[in-house]
Amino acid sequence: MNNKTIRLAAIGLGGRGRGQLDLLLKIPYINCVAVCDTVPERAEEGVRIVKKNRGEEHEVRSYLDYVELFKKEKLDAALICTTWITHSRIAVAAMKAGCDAAIEVGGAASVEECWQLVRTSEETGKFCMLLENCCYDRKEMMVYNMMRQGVFGEITHCEGGYRHDLRDEISLGRENIHGRLYNFQHRNGELYPTHQLGPICKLLGVNRGNRMLYLTSMASKSRGLNEWNRQHQPEGYDLREYPFNCGDVVSTMIKCANGETIVLHHDCSTPRPYSRNYVVEGTKGSFMEISDTNSLIYLDSFEKKHEWQHIDGFYEKYEHPLWKWYRTEGVKAGHGGMDFLVLSAFAESVRDGTRPPIDVYDTAAWMVVTCLSEQSVAMGSTPVPIPDFTNGMWIDREPFVRGRYCVDAVCDEFFE
Ligand SMILES: NC(=O)c1ccc[n+]([C@@H]2O[C@H](COP(=O)([O-])OP(=O)(O)OC[C@H]3O[C@@H](n4cnc5c(N)ncnc54)[C@H](O)[C@@H]3O)[C@@H](O)[C@H]2O)c1
Repeated sequence: MNNKTIRLAAIGLGGRGRGQLDLLLKIPYINCVAVCDTVPERAEEGVRIVKKNRGEEHEVRSYLDYVELFKKEKLDAALICTTWITHSRIAVAAMKAGCDAAIEVGGAASVEECWQLVRTSEETGKFCMLLENCCYDRKEMMVYNMMRQGVFGEITHCEGGYRHDLRDEISLGRENIHGRLYNFQHRNGELYPTHQLGPICKLLGVNRGNRMLYLTSMASKSRGLNEWNRQHQPEGYDLREYPFNCGDVVSTMIKCANGETIVLHHDCSTPRPYSRNYVVEGTKGSFMEISDTNSLIYLDSFEKKHEWQHIDGFYEKYEHPLWKWYRTEGVKAGHGGMDFLVLSAFAESVRDGTRPPIDVYDTAAWMVVTCLSEQSVAMGSTPVPIPDFTNGMWIDREPFVRGRYCVDAVCDEFFE
Protein backbone atom coordinates (compact mmCIF):
# COMPACT_ATOMS: atom_id res chain seq x y z
CA MET A 1 0.00 0.00 0.00
CA ASN A 2 1.29 3.52 -0.76
CA ASN A 3 0.37 6.95 0.61
CA LYS A 4 -0.58 8.54 -2.68
CA THR A 5 -3.68 10.73 -2.85
CA ILE A 6 -5.74 10.59 -6.02
CA ARG A 7 -6.62 13.83 -7.82
CA LEU A 8 -10.04 13.05 -9.25
CA ALA A 9 -12.69 14.70 -11.43
CA ALA A 10 -16.34 13.65 -11.24
CA ILE A 11 -18.18 14.02 -14.55
CA GLY A 12 -21.95 13.55 -14.78
CA LEU A 13 -23.84 14.49 -11.64
CA GLY A 14 -27.31 13.09 -12.13
CA GLY A 15 -28.75 10.92 -9.37
CA ARG A 16 -26.15 8.21 -9.86
CA GLY A 17 -23.14 10.50 -10.22
CA ARG A 18 -24.04 12.37 -7.03
CA GLY A 19 -24.48 9.14 -5.06
CA GLN A 20 -21.23 7.63 -6.37
CA LEU A 21 -19.24 10.81 -5.69
CA ASP A 22 -20.57 11.01 -2.14
CA LEU A 23 -19.60 7.36 -1.56
CA LEU A 24 -16.19 7.64 -3.21
CA LEU A 25 -15.36 10.54 -0.91
CA LYS A 26 -15.65 8.14 2.05
CA ILE A 27 -12.25 6.85 0.87
CA PRO A 28 -9.74 9.17 2.56
CA TYR A 29 -7.12 9.19 -0.19
CA ILE A 30 -9.60 10.50 -2.81
CA ASN A 31 -9.10 14.22 -3.49
CA CYS A 32 -11.89 15.50 -5.77
CA VAL A 33 -10.54 18.69 -7.39
CA ALA A 34 -13.08 19.18 -10.20
CA VAL A 35 -16.68 18.38 -11.07
CA CYS A 36 -18.51 18.68 -14.39
CA ASP A 37 -22.03 18.48 -15.73
CA THR A 38 -23.62 20.17 -18.75
CA VAL A 39 -26.44 21.27 -16.43
CA PRO A 40 -25.01 24.11 -14.24
CA GLU A 41 -27.17 23.33 -11.15
CA ARG A 42 -25.93 19.74 -11.20
CA ALA A 43 -22.29 20.80 -11.42
CA GLU A 44 -22.91 23.08 -8.41
CA GLU A 45 -24.52 20.17 -6.59
CA GLY A 46 -21.28 18.27 -7.16
CA VAL A 47 -19.32 21.11 -5.54
CA ARG A 48 -21.68 20.96 -2.55
CA ILE A 49 -21.15 17.21 -2.16
CA VAL A 50 -17.38 17.63 -2.15
CA LYS A 51 -17.50 20.47 0.40
CA LYS A 52 -19.96 18.56 2.59
CA ASN A 53 -17.48 15.68 2.77
CA ARG A 54 -14.20 17.60 2.85
CA GLY A 55 -15.04 20.99 4.39
CA GLU A 56 -15.99 24.42 2.97
CA GLU A 57 -12.36 25.43 2.46
CA HIS A 58 -11.68 22.47 0.14
CA GLU A 59 -10.88 23.73 -3.36
CA VAL A 60 -12.98 22.20 -6.12
CA ARG A 61 -13.57 23.73 -9.55
CA SER A 62 -16.79 23.39 -11.49
CA TYR A 63 -17.04 22.86 -15.29
CA LEU A 64 -19.79 22.56 -17.90
CA ASP A 65 -17.49 21.08 -20.54
CA TYR A 66 -15.30 18.03 -19.95
CA VAL A 67 -12.90 19.01 -22.78
CA GLU A 68 -12.07 22.23 -20.95
CA LEU A 69 -11.77 20.35 -17.67
CA PHE A 70 -9.20 17.91 -19.07
CA LYS A 71 -7.27 20.82 -20.61
CA LYS A 72 -7.03 22.74 -17.35
CA GLU A 73 -6.76 20.12 -14.60
CA LYS A 74 -3.90 17.83 -13.68
CA LEU A 75 -5.61 14.60 -12.67
CA ASP A 76 -5.01 10.96 -11.80
CA ALA A 77 -8.54 9.68 -12.34
CA ALA A 78 -12.00 10.46 -13.66
CA LEU A 79 -15.33 9.14 -12.39
CA ILE A 80 -17.74 9.23 -15.36
CA CYS A 81 -21.45 8.84 -14.61
CA THR A 82 -23.00 10.52 -17.65
CA THR A 83 -25.43 9.00 -20.16
CA TRP A 84 -24.93 5.70 -22.00
CA ILE A 85 -23.94 7.37 -25.29
CA THR A 86 -21.37 9.69 -23.71
CA HIS A 87 -19.43 7.38 -21.35
CA SER A 88 -16.93 6.11 -23.92
CA ARG A 89 -16.01 9.40 -25.56
CA ILE A 90 -15.39 10.99 -22.16
CA ALA A 91 -13.35 7.96 -21.02
CA VAL A 92 -11.23 8.21 -24.18
CA ALA A 93 -10.62 11.93 -23.49
CA ALA A 94 -9.80 11.11 -19.86
CA MET A 95 -7.22 8.45 -20.75
CA LYS A 96 -5.65 10.77 -23.33
CA ALA A 97 -5.37 13.39 -20.57
CA GLY A 98 -3.43 10.91 -18.42
CA CYS A 99 -6.28 9.71 -16.19
CA ASP A 100 -7.47 6.25 -15.27
CA ALA A 101 -11.19 6.19 -16.05
CA ALA A 102 -14.16 4.61 -14.30
CA ILE A 103 -17.38 4.57 -16.28
CA GLU A 104 -20.84 3.81 -15.02
CA VAL A 105 -22.67 0.91 -16.64
CA GLY A 106 -24.56 1.03 -19.92
CA GLY A 107 -24.27 -0.53 -23.36
CA ALA A 108 -22.27 0.60 -26.38
CA ALA A 109 -23.83 2.33 -29.37
CA SER A 110 -21.22 0.99 -31.79
CA VAL A 111 -18.47 -1.61 -32.02
CA GLU A 112 -16.05 1.17 -32.97
CA GLU A 113 -16.67 2.90 -29.65
CA CYS A 114 -15.46 -0.23 -27.84
CA TRP A 115 -12.33 -0.50 -29.98
CA GLN A 116 -11.59 3.17 -29.22
CA LEU A 117 -11.65 2.38 -25.51
CA VAL A 118 -9.34 -0.62 -25.96
CA ARG A 119 -6.86 1.13 -28.25
CA THR A 120 -6.72 4.30 -26.16
CA SER A 121 -6.06 2.27 -23.03
CA GLU A 122 -3.33 0.26 -24.78
CA GLU A 123 -1.71 3.38 -26.24
CA THR A 124 -1.84 5.56 -23.12
CA GLY A 125 -1.21 2.85 -20.51
CA LYS A 126 -4.22 4.19 -18.59
CA PHE A 127 -7.12 1.93 -17.70
CA CYS A 128 -10.86 2.10 -18.23
CA MET A 129 -12.93 0.18 -15.68
CA LEU A 130 -16.65 -0.43 -16.02
CA LEU A 131 -18.17 0.13 -12.57
CA GLU A 132 -20.15 -3.11 -12.71
CA ASN A 133 -21.26 -3.20 -9.10
CA CYS A 134 -23.14 -6.51 -9.52
CA CYS A 135 -19.80 -8.34 -9.74
CA TYR A 136 -19.49 -7.38 -6.05
CA ASP A 137 -22.97 -8.28 -4.84
CA ARG A 138 -22.96 -10.66 -1.86
CA LYS A 139 -25.01 -13.32 -3.64
CA GLU A 140 -23.04 -13.21 -6.90
CA MET A 141 -19.77 -13.40 -4.96
CA MET A 142 -20.87 -16.43 -2.97
CA VAL A 143 -22.01 -18.22 -6.14
CA TYR A 144 -18.60 -17.39 -7.66
CA ASN A 145 -16.84 -18.79 -4.59
CA MET A 146 -18.94 -21.98 -4.81
CA MET A 147 -18.11 -22.33 -8.51
CA ARG A 148 -14.38 -21.97 -7.76
CA GLN A 149 -14.67 -24.75 -5.18
CA GLY A 150 -16.29 -27.01 -7.77
CA VAL A 151 -19.65 -27.19 -5.98
CA PHE A 152 -21.65 -26.85 -9.22
CA GLY A 153 -19.28 -29.10 -11.24
CA GLU A 154 -18.52 -27.91 -14.75
CA ILE A 155 -20.68 -24.94 -15.71
CA THR A 156 -22.71 -25.40 -18.89
CA HIS A 157 -25.23 -22.56 -18.87
CA CYS A 158 -25.94 -19.19 -17.21
CA GLU A 159 -28.86 -16.80 -17.37
CA GLY A 160 -29.64 -13.37 -16.05
CA GLY A 161 -31.59 -10.26 -16.70
CA TYR A 162 -32.12 -6.65 -15.95
CA ARG A 163 -35.74 -6.87 -14.89
CA HIS A 164 -36.45 -3.48 -13.41
CA ASP A 165 -39.75 -1.67 -13.72
CA LEU A 166 -38.51 1.76 -14.85
CA ARG A 167 -41.66 2.89 -16.64
CA ASP A 168 -41.83 6.13 -14.66
CA GLU A 169 -38.11 6.93 -14.85
CA ILE A 170 -38.05 6.30 -18.62
CA SER A 171 -41.28 8.14 -19.35
CA LEU A 172 -40.38 11.22 -17.30
CA GLY A 173 -36.93 11.52 -18.91
CA ARG A 174 -37.53 15.02 -20.33
CA GLU A 175 -39.03 16.44 -17.14
CA ASN A 176 -36.21 15.00 -14.97
CA ILE A 177 -33.34 15.46 -17.49
CA HIS A 178 -32.69 11.74 -17.54
CA GLY A 179 -30.99 9.86 -20.38
CA ARG A 180 -32.97 6.60 -20.70
CA LEU A 181 -36.06 7.86 -22.57
CA TYR A 182 -34.37 8.59 -25.93
CA ASN A 183 -32.82 5.14 -25.97
CA PHE A 184 -36.19 3.44 -25.54
CA GLN A 185 -37.72 5.70 -28.17
CA HIS A 186 -35.11 5.03 -30.83
CA ARG A 187 -33.29 1.75 -30.15
CA ASN A 188 -34.43 -1.88 -30.03
CA GLY A 189 -32.10 -4.31 -28.31
CA GLU A 190 -30.48 -5.42 -25.05
CA LEU A 191 -29.90 -1.86 -23.79
CA TYR A 192 -28.47 -2.73 -20.37
CA PRO A 193 -26.64 -6.06 -20.50
CA THR A 194 -23.82 -5.73 -18.01
CA HIS A 195 -25.48 -6.12 -14.60
CA GLN A 196 -25.81 -9.85 -15.10
CA LEU A 197 -23.40 -10.38 -17.96
CA GLY A 198 -20.49 -9.04 -15.87
CA PRO A 199 -20.74 -11.64 -13.10
CA ILE A 200 -21.48 -14.37 -15.68
CA CYS A 201 -18.37 -13.50 -17.74
CA LYS A 202 -16.20 -13.58 -14.62
CA LEU A 203 -17.71 -16.94 -13.69
CA LEU A 204 -17.04 -18.37 -17.17
CA GLY A 205 -13.53 -16.91 -17.45
CA VAL A 206 -14.41 -14.75 -20.47
CA ASN A 207 -11.26 -12.95 -21.77
CA ARG A 208 -9.12 -15.37 -19.77
CA GLY A 209 -9.28 -18.78 -21.45
CA ASN A 210 -12.78 -18.27 -22.80
CA ARG A 211 -14.60 -15.74 -24.97
CA MET A 212 -18.06 -14.93 -26.27
CA LEU A 213 -18.35 -15.99 -29.92
CA TYR A 214 -21.73 -14.82 -31.21
CA LEU A 215 -25.20 -13.77 -30.11
CA THR A 216 -28.74 -13.68 -31.35
CA SER A 217 -31.50 -11.43 -29.98
CA MET A 218 -35.27 -11.29 -30.24
CA ALA A 219 -37.52 -8.45 -29.08
CA SER A 220 -41.16 -8.63 -28.04
CA LYS A 221 -43.60 -5.92 -29.05
CA SER A 222 -43.51 -2.63 -27.17
CA ARG A 223 -46.58 -1.90 -25.02
CA GLY A 224 -45.66 -1.19 -21.38
CA LEU A 225 -44.53 2.43 -21.72
CA ASN A 226 -47.66 3.42 -23.69
CA GLU A 227 -49.88 1.78 -21.09
CA TRP A 228 -48.08 3.56 -18.22
CA ASN A 229 -48.41 6.93 -19.98
CA ARG A 230 -52.11 6.36 -20.67
CA GLN A 231 -52.59 5.74 -16.95
CA HIS A 232 -50.46 8.65 -15.71
CA GLN A 233 -50.59 11.39 -18.37
CA PRO A 234 -53.45 13.50 -19.72
CA GLU A 235 -55.23 13.00 -23.04
CA GLY A 236 -53.02 14.20 -25.92
CA TYR A 237 -49.67 13.65 -24.11
CA ASP A 238 -47.29 12.46 -26.86
CA LEU A 239 -45.92 9.34 -25.11
CA ARG A 240 -49.37 7.80 -24.67
CA GLU A 241 -49.31 6.66 -28.30
CA TYR A 242 -45.61 7.11 -29.12
CA PRO A 243 -44.29 4.18 -31.24
CA PHE A 244 -41.43 3.19 -28.88
CA ASN A 245 -38.79 1.16 -30.69
CA CYS A 246 -37.58 -0.94 -27.76
CA GLY A 247 -39.49 -4.17 -27.19
CA ASP A 248 -40.76 -4.69 -23.64
CA VAL A 249 -38.71 -7.89 -23.29
CA VAL A 250 -35.56 -8.41 -25.34
CA SER A 251 -33.99 -11.87 -25.04
CA THR A 252 -30.42 -12.56 -26.11
CA MET A 253 -28.55 -15.87 -26.42
CA ILE A 254 -24.76 -15.96 -26.43
CA LYS A 255 -22.47 -18.88 -27.30
CA CYS A 256 -19.02 -19.13 -25.71
CA ALA A 257 -15.81 -20.65 -27.12
CA ASN A 258 -15.74 -23.27 -24.35
CA GLY A 259 -19.26 -24.40 -25.17
CA GLU A 260 -21.32 -22.62 -22.50
CA THR A 261 -24.50 -20.73 -23.36
CA ILE A 262 -25.75 -17.49 -21.79
CA VAL A 263 -29.30 -16.11 -21.90
CA LEU A 264 -30.02 -12.46 -21.02
CA HIS A 265 -33.36 -10.69 -20.63
CA HIS A 266 -33.81 -6.94 -20.79
CA ASP A 267 -37.14 -6.08 -19.23
CA CYS A 268 -37.77 -2.53 -17.95
CA SER A 269 -41.30 -1.75 -19.16
CA THR A 270 -43.25 -4.51 -17.42
CA PRO A 271 -44.91 -4.18 -14.00
CA ARG A 272 -42.83 -6.57 -11.88
CA PRO A 273 -40.57 -6.42 -8.82
CA TYR A 274 -36.83 -6.01 -9.42
CA SER A 275 -34.81 -9.12 -10.13
CA ARG A 276 -31.73 -10.12 -12.09
CA ASN A 277 -33.00 -13.73 -12.23
CA TYR A 278 -29.44 -15.06 -12.09
CA VAL A 279 -29.14 -18.76 -13.03
CA VAL A 280 -26.00 -20.93 -13.00
CA GLU A 281 -26.18 -24.57 -14.12
CA GLY A 282 -23.42 -27.15 -13.90
CA THR A 283 -22.88 -30.90 -13.95
CA LYS A 284 -23.20 -31.17 -10.14
CA GLY A 285 -25.83 -28.57 -9.30
CA SER A 286 -27.67 -25.34 -9.99
CA PHE A 287 -28.34 -21.91 -8.58
CA MET A 288 -31.52 -20.00 -9.39
CA GLU A 289 -32.61 -16.52 -8.33
CA ILE A 290 -36.40 -16.42 -8.24
CA SER A 291 -36.66 -12.83 -7.02
CA ASP A 292 -34.38 -10.29 -5.39
CA THR A 293 -35.00 -11.84 -1.97
CA ASN A 294 -35.48 -15.48 -2.88
CA SER A 295 -32.67 -17.58 -4.36
CA LEU A 296 -32.37 -21.35 -4.41
CA ILE A 297 -29.65 -23.96 -4.74
CA TYR A 298 -29.87 -27.62 -5.75
CA LEU A 299 -26.91 -30.01 -5.62
CA ASP A 300 -26.72 -33.57 -6.90
CA SER A 301 -25.32 -34.53 -3.49
CA PHE A 302 -28.50 -33.53 -1.61
CA GLU A 303 -30.18 -36.42 0.18
CA LYS A 304 -33.62 -35.04 -0.67
CA LYS A 305 -33.84 -35.31 -4.44
CA HIS A 306 -35.67 -32.79 -6.66
CA GLU A 307 -35.99 -30.26 -3.84
CA TRP A 308 -34.34 -26.82 -3.86
CA GLN A 309 -32.75 -25.38 -0.70
CA HIS A 310 -32.80 -21.67 0.15
CA ILE A 311 -29.52 -19.81 -0.41
CA ASP A 312 -29.43 -18.53 3.19
CA GLY A 313 -28.30 -21.93 4.44
CA PHE A 314 -25.10 -21.72 2.36
CA TYR A 315 -23.58 -18.41 3.50
CA GLU A 316 -21.94 -19.88 6.58
CA LYS A 317 -19.86 -22.33 4.54
CA TYR A 318 -19.42 -20.49 1.23
CA GLU A 319 -19.54 -16.72 1.92
CA HIS A 320 -16.92 -14.99 -0.25
CA PRO A 321 -14.01 -13.83 1.95
CA LEU A 322 -14.44 -10.23 0.73
CA TRP A 323 -17.98 -10.19 2.09
CA LYS A 324 -16.95 -11.94 5.33
CA TRP A 325 -14.43 -9.16 5.86
CA TYR A 326 -16.80 -6.39 4.69
CA ARG A 327 -19.54 -7.50 7.07
CA THR A 328 -17.18 -7.29 10.03
CA GLU A 329 -15.82 -3.89 8.86
CA GLY A 330 -19.34 -2.47 8.36
CA VAL A 331 -21.25 -2.60 5.08
CA LYS A 332 -21.64 0.85 3.46
CA ALA A 333 -24.78 2.17 1.76
CA GLY A 334 -25.43 1.75 -1.97
CA HIS A 335 -27.36 -1.18 -3.46
CA GLY A 336 -26.83 -3.38 -0.40
CA GLY A 337 -23.11 -2.56 -0.16
CA MET A 338 -21.81 -3.51 -3.61
CA ASP A 339 -21.38 0.11 -4.78
CA PHE A 340 -18.70 0.84 -2.20
CA LEU A 341 -16.84 -2.35 -3.10
CA VAL A 342 -16.65 -1.55 -6.82
CA LEU A 343 -15.56 2.03 -6.07
CA SER A 344 -12.92 0.75 -3.66
CA ALA A 345 -11.65 -1.64 -6.35
CA PHE A 346 -11.30 1.32 -8.73
CA ALA A 347 -9.63 3.61 -6.17
CA GLU A 348 -7.15 0.94 -5.07
CA SER A 349 -6.11 0.21 -8.67
CA VAL A 350 -5.51 3.92 -9.37
CA ARG A 351 -3.58 4.37 -6.14
CA ASP A 352 -1.40 1.29 -6.65
CA GLY A 353 -0.95 1.77 -10.42
CA THR A 354 -2.23 -1.75 -11.14
CA ARG A 355 -4.65 -3.14 -13.72
CA PRO A 356 -8.21 -3.02 -12.37
CA PRO A 357 -10.24 -6.19 -11.69
CA ILE A 358 -12.65 -5.19 -14.48
CA ASP A 359 -10.33 -4.05 -17.27
CA VAL A 360 -10.85 -2.41 -20.64
CA TYR A 361 -11.24 -5.81 -22.38
CA ASP A 362 -14.04 -6.77 -19.98
CA THR A 363 -15.58 -3.31 -20.36
CA ALA A 364 -15.59 -3.53 -24.17
CA ALA A 365 -16.78 -7.16 -24.35
CA TRP A 366 -19.70 -6.59 -21.98
CA MET A 367 -20.80 -3.23 -23.46
CA VAL A 368 -20.66 -4.35 -27.09
CA VAL A 369 -23.55 -6.76 -26.53
CA THR A 370 -25.94 -3.79 -26.76
CA CYS A 371 -25.15 -2.66 -30.30
CA LEU A 372 -24.74 -6.25 -31.53
CA SER A 373 -28.13 -7.19 -30.13
CA GLU A 374 -29.65 -4.18 -31.91
CA GLN A 375 -28.16 -5.46 -35.17
CA SER A 376 -29.46 -8.97 -34.53
CA VAL A 377 -32.99 -7.76 -33.73
CA ALA A 378 -32.99 -5.54 -36.81
CA MET A 379 -32.02 -8.48 -39.03
CA GLY A 380 -34.61 -10.96 -37.76
CA SER A 381 -32.48 -12.46 -34.95
CA THR A 382 -29.54 -13.22 -37.24
CA PRO A 383 -26.49 -14.49 -35.31
CA VAL A 384 -23.91 -11.69 -34.97
CA PRO A 385 -20.22 -12.35 -34.23
CA ILE A 386 -18.79 -10.80 -31.06
CA PRO A 387 -15.36 -9.19 -31.56
CA ASP A 388 -12.36 -10.47 -29.63
CA PHE A 389 -11.12 -7.23 -28.07
CA THR A 390 -8.06 -9.01 -26.66
CA ASN A 391 -6.86 -9.74 -30.23
CA GLY A 392 -6.22 -13.38 -29.37
CA MET A 393 -4.67 -12.74 -25.95
CA TRP A 394 -7.62 -14.47 -24.23
CA ILE A 395 -5.92 -17.81 -24.86
CA ASP A 396 -2.72 -16.69 -23.11
CA ARG A 397 -3.09 -13.53 -21.04
CA GLU A 398 -0.74 -11.80 -18.65
CA PRO A 399 -1.66 -12.88 -15.10
CA PHE A 400 -4.46 -10.93 -13.42
CA VAL A 401 -3.69 -8.84 -10.35
CA ARG A 402 -4.43 -10.73 -7.14
CA GLY A 403 -5.98 -8.70 -4.34
CA ARG A 404 -8.90 -8.13 -2.04
CA TYR A 405 -11.15 -6.92 -4.88
CA CYS A 406 -10.06 -9.47 -7.48
CA VAL A 407 -12.96 -11.04 -9.41
CA ASP A 408 -10.83 -13.42 -11.51
CA ALA A 409 -10.08 -15.67 -8.53
CA VAL A 410 -10.80 -15.86 -4.81
CA CYS A 411 -7.64 -14.46 -3.18
CA ASP A 412 -7.91 -15.88 0.36
CA GLU A 413 -4.37 -14.75 1.21
CA PHE A 414 -5.55 -11.10 1.36
CA PHE A 415 -7.97 -11.83 4.18
CA GLU A 416 -5.70 -13.79 6.54
N1 LIG B 1 -24.62 0.62 -11.39
C1 LIG B 1 -25.82 0.95 -10.98
O1 LIG B 1 -26.39 0.29 -10.12
C2 LIG B 1 -26.46 2.17 -11.56
C3 LIG B 1 -27.60 2.73 -10.96
C4 LIG B 1 -28.14 3.88 -11.56
C5 LIG B 1 -27.58 4.40 -12.70
N2 LIG B 1 -26.49 3.82 -13.26
C6 LIG B 1 -25.87 4.35 -14.48
O2 LIG B 1 -25.26 5.59 -14.17
C7 LIG B 1 -25.32 6.47 -15.28
C8 LIG B 1 -25.98 7.78 -14.87
O3 LIG B 1 -27.29 7.49 -14.40
P1 LIG B 1 -28.28 8.64 -13.92
O4 LIG B 1 -29.50 7.93 -13.47
O5 LIG B 1 -27.58 9.54 -12.98
O6 LIG B 1 -28.52 9.34 -15.33
P2 LIG B 1 -28.94 10.85 -15.64
O7 LIG B 1 -29.29 10.88 -17.10
O8 LIG B 1 -29.94 11.29 -14.63
O9 LIG B 1 -27.61 11.68 -15.35
C9 LIG B 1 -26.57 11.82 -16.27
C10 LIG B 1 -25.93 13.17 -16.02
O10 LIG B 1 -24.84 13.34 -16.95
C11 LIG B 1 -24.88 14.65 -17.45
N3 LIG B 1 -24.21 14.66 -18.76
C12 LIG B 1 -24.65 14.15 -19.93
N4 LIG B 1 -23.75 14.38 -20.91
C13 LIG B 1 -22.72 15.03 -20.32
C14 LIG B 1 -21.49 15.54 -20.81
N5 LIG B 1 -21.15 15.43 -22.09
N6 LIG B 1 -20.66 16.16 -19.94
C15 LIG B 1 -21.00 16.31 -18.62
N7 LIG B 1 -22.16 15.85 -18.12
C16 LIG B 1 -23.01 15.22 -18.97
C17 LIG B 1 -26.36 15.01 -17.53
O11 LIG B 1 -26.57 16.40 -17.56
C18 LIG B 1 -26.87 14.36 -16.25
O12 LIG B 1 -26.81 15.23 -15.15
C19 LIG B 1 -26.07 5.71 -16.37
O13 LIG B 1 -25.16 5.07 -17.19
C20 LIG B 1 -26.86 4.68 -15.59
O14 LIG B 1 -27.16 3.55 -16.35
C21 LIG B 1 -25.92 2.71 -12.71
